[in-house]
Amino acid sequence: MDRKKMTRRNFIGITAAAAAGSVTVPAFMGCGPVETGPATLAQSGIEKSPTSKKAFEASMIGPVRLKNRIIRSAVSMNGIDDAGRPTEALLGHYADVARGGAGAIITGMLDTGMMIDDYRYKDEYFSSYKKVPDVIHSHNVPAIQQISHRGRQKNLDESGDFFVNKVNERSIEEMIDLFVRAIVISKRLGFDAVQLHGAHGYVLSDFLSPARNGRDDRWGGSTDNRFRVIAEIFRRARKKAGNYPILIKINAYDNRRNGMRVEEAVRIARLLESAGCAAIEVSCGVMDDGFSTVRVTEVPVDALVEFSKYRRLPSPVKAVMPAIVPLIARRFEPLENYNVAAAREIAGAVSIPVIVVGGIRNRGDINAILESGAADFVSMGRPFIIEPDIVNRLRKGPGAKSACINCGYCIMAANSTEVRCFYGTL
Ligand SMILES: Cc1cc2nc3c(=O)[nH]c(=O)nc-3n(C[C@H](O)[C@H](O)[C@H](O)COP(=O)(O)O)c2cc1C
Repeated sequence: MDRKKMTRRNFIGITAAAAAGSVTVPAFMGCGPVETGPATLAQSGIEKSPTSKKAFEASMIGPVRLKNRIIRSAVSMNGIDDAGRPTEALLGHYADVARGGAGAIITGMLDTGMMIDDYRYKDEYFSSYKKVPDVIHSHNVPAIQQISHRGRQKNLDESGDFFVNKVNERSIEEMIDLFVRAIVISKRLGFDAVQLHGAHGYVLSDFLSPARNGRDDRWGGSTDNRFRVIAEIFRRARKKAGNYPILIKINAYDNRRNGMRVEEAVRIARLLESAGCAAIEVSCGVMDDGFSTVRVTEVPVDALVEFSKYRRLPSPVKAVMPAIVPLIARRFEPLENYNVAAAREIAGAVSIPVIVVGGIRNRGDINAILESGAADFVSMGRPFIIEPDIVNRLRKGPGAKSACINCGYCIMAANSTEVRCFYGTL
């Protein structure tokens, strides 16, 4: 590799290229310290509730009935082929998760054909994509389509040409209309609801973020202005899709200087409630933070190299990476329940359902989270990769827990190959 090109941005690109769009990846310096809340549920004053039955009660998100309160969070499995068709592996995975007891399934943004900045977003693809809601429904589970626009967080192989601070009015208007179009198509395809991806540094989260959004027109500045793009999506979607339920995933905080913080997320949650949002899923982190959204026990250097163009680096360069990368790639703790404290703040401020994601791994914690009112639903990502039937497994008893070891290899695979559990080895 040309050493001059090994700038910090390129280095970040190692991970960005590997981890693709959904995902939060390595992590380098320059982040402001952030108070992310207490490390454990007990420190948050959330007590155990071993006899609770709440996790397996039926409950509603808007008009959508879920048979329990454990949701499969959006996870891109990289299961859409170049013609926009879901692969057999993806359909099989959704069938396994639905059969395995999930209360609802939120599709991965890369697996939807609904990346609205993506070439796959073409009408002719949607007839085959309809197999996704159909297979989920065949097991009597609601299907929720995640819709996203990557904005600046494209793979660094591609051009990140949609910078919130640089786009003109016309492009913003077009983007809003594309979101609305995706909502209308999702409804037509039979999805029970959609979820806007407003977290993790993708375009909607960039509009919301005080750190990313430096605009001084009606799309930036005050909270209301930063929220305007989302308000417009809701307003225009109502006209075209009636009361079709629209959820959103937002960051309660990131690790950027002057970035998103819980107090601001609470204000945004109130605006979302007023806009008619059906439920808010609480997450954290942007790609530049590092392993904040998807937390890992240690930085997965070999996966990071393997699943990017950097696997073609000369061997001597690759050989030193295990020593160097962990020194500059940030990982975050705690590994479990890391958005619960933030979700509790948000749940206390709104009366629409709140879903919390991030390191939720066992039945005891789920009981405690739900009974405390910190959230109305929990969602999980990686546990469904290693055990698609994790929800049925959690039914087995109070000590039941996920087998996920938080190695992070799956997130590194997400852009270049079909996602599976690697269990810490390539
Ligand atoms: C392989 C992989 C792909 C992901 N894809 C998405 C995605 O498409 N959209 C999204 O909002 N989050 C995505 N995420 C983040 C998860 O939804 C979730 O927020 C995160 O993994 C933390 O939850 P967990 O600890 O239960 O895995 C992805 C995570 C992984 C591991």
